[in-house]
Amino acid sequence: MHRIAILASGNGSNAQRIIEYFENSKLVDITLVLCNKPGAYVITRAKNLGIPAITFNRDAFYENGTVVKTLADHQIDFLVLAGFLWLIPQNILKLYPGRIINLHPALLPKYGGKGMYGMKVHEAVIAAGERESGITIHFVNEFYDEGQIIFQSRCPVLPSDTPELLADKIHALEYRYFAEVVEKVVAG
Ligand code: GAR
Repeated sequence: MHRIAILASGNGSNAQRIIEYFENSKLVDITLVLCNKPGAYVITRAKNLGIPAITFNRDAFYENGTVVKTLADHQIDFLVLAGFLWLIPQNILKLYPGRIINLHPALLPKYGGKGMYGMKVHEAVIAAGERESGITIHFVNEFYDEGQIIFQSRCPVLPSDTPELLADKIHALEYRYFAEVVEKVVAG
């Protein structure tokens, strides 16, 4: 069994989808949800689904090793970032080579980087007059949204699309593909 910790910062709809997808899996155990925002809705979702959720602050992530210890204590094999907004520190990257997967709501390398998350991405895509957008699932390295791309899927951007409408289309792609791609990576 491969043990996965999901890292999330906000609403957690992708986290929920992944937890549900692997509920009866013989390959993957969603062991933990780790959240850097106390009160984020992802914590409620995890608890409702019976998955322990642990919150942490900047010190625990970047300075004092608490998060690394939590990962070790729970024998975590892979990290899945589902709407997680902090850069992963070097020590964690070293512990999980090729084992940290991020979801981004645009077609990288465009519309990535620091500060490009959630609705900001969709607003930028529409402001630029793009005719298509999509999702990117990629391995994580030391730079925001620059690790090796594993999978992309596209959708049209219509002249009538608002950022909210585009977000709905992107979420549909995320729910359709993210868990499946994680499963393939974990299976090797
Ligand atoms: C998702 O659309 C995900 O692609 C995006 O945040 C949203 C989280 O939604 N991630 C990023 O923008 C990362 N740069 P959710 O909390 O409902 O899953």
